[in-house]
Amino acid sequence: MTTESKRQAVKTLHYFSGITLSLFIGIHLLNHLFSFAGPEAHMALMEKFRKVYRHPVIETILVLVVLVQVVSGVKLLFNRKPKILAEKIQIYSGLYLSLFLVGHVGAVFASRMFEHLDTNFYYTVAGFNLHPATLFFIPYYFLDVCAISLHVAAIHYLKTRSKWSARLIGGTGIVVAMLIVAGYTNWFQWRETPPKERAFIEKYFGKGY
Ligand code: HEM
Ligand code: HEM
Repeated sequence: MTTESKRQAVKTLHYFSGITLSLFIGIHLLNHLFSFAGPEAHMALMEKFRKVYRHPVIETILVLVVLVQVVSGVKLLFNRKPKILAEKIQIYSGLYLSLFLVGHVGAVFASRMFEHLDTNFYYTVAGFNLHPATLFFIPYYFLDVCAISLHVAAIHYLKTRSKWSARLIGGTGIVVAMLIVAGYTNWFQWRETPPKERAFIEKYFGKGY
């Protein structure tokens, strides 16, 4: 196998795992947008989605797909000399996504297994609303949603050279990122965090005011 055909194989793998992961990301972000509808509506929808993605077979595939996405994405970074803006956006958004995905999926599973937390609406609310953790979690989640849409917008541009549709994809993602921050913080009016989730955040981020 030549270096070029190996690279093509990694790219194909990244492409197909990317499509699979995007299905999950679609329902996951829709669920996060339901933060606007309040805790009951958000958690009712999450319960429905969990029946699918928490099924042991599906959950195993999901975690493997995340791993494949990160490892293949990082491999694609080597020997690449980005020239145009879209290529730079693709690489830097990919880099952020690799850090986010490892941290995020690791944190969710560790919280469930070692802290015995239900990683539901209030788990996310704790990070978004308690000072000083909020200073980390708002940019952390905001940049993730921007990164995923910019990654896809860059790919779309590189494949079609259509500027307006790439801008529409990237712009929609940035609006969704802003809405998720607004939903979880109740437009920065701040939401109440229950004692268990508060104690968890304070253990790792300290007590604020
Ligand atoms: C949420 C996860 C991600 C999705 C949905 C995704 C999706 C995709 C897709 C569909 C492509 C186009 C492949 C092709 O041209 O056929 C691509 C390209 C690329 N991705 Fe990702 N990706 C994700 C995460 C990452 C990560 C974590 C990295 C790591 C740094 C990364 C780095 C790259 C690079 C460098 C390319 C360009 C490949 C090339 O043209 O040589 N991606 N991505
Ligand atoms: C690229 C975007 C994202 C990806 C690929 C992603 C991926 C994942 C994965 C694989 C899981 C584990 C699912 C399971 O329980 O089996 C998960 C859970 C979770 N994620 Fe994300 N995530 C993303 C964005 C976000 C954002 C922006 C937030 C917060 C606003 C978030 C909050 C959560 C929470 C609270 C859980 C636990 C869900 C549950 O207990 O059912 N995620 N995520």
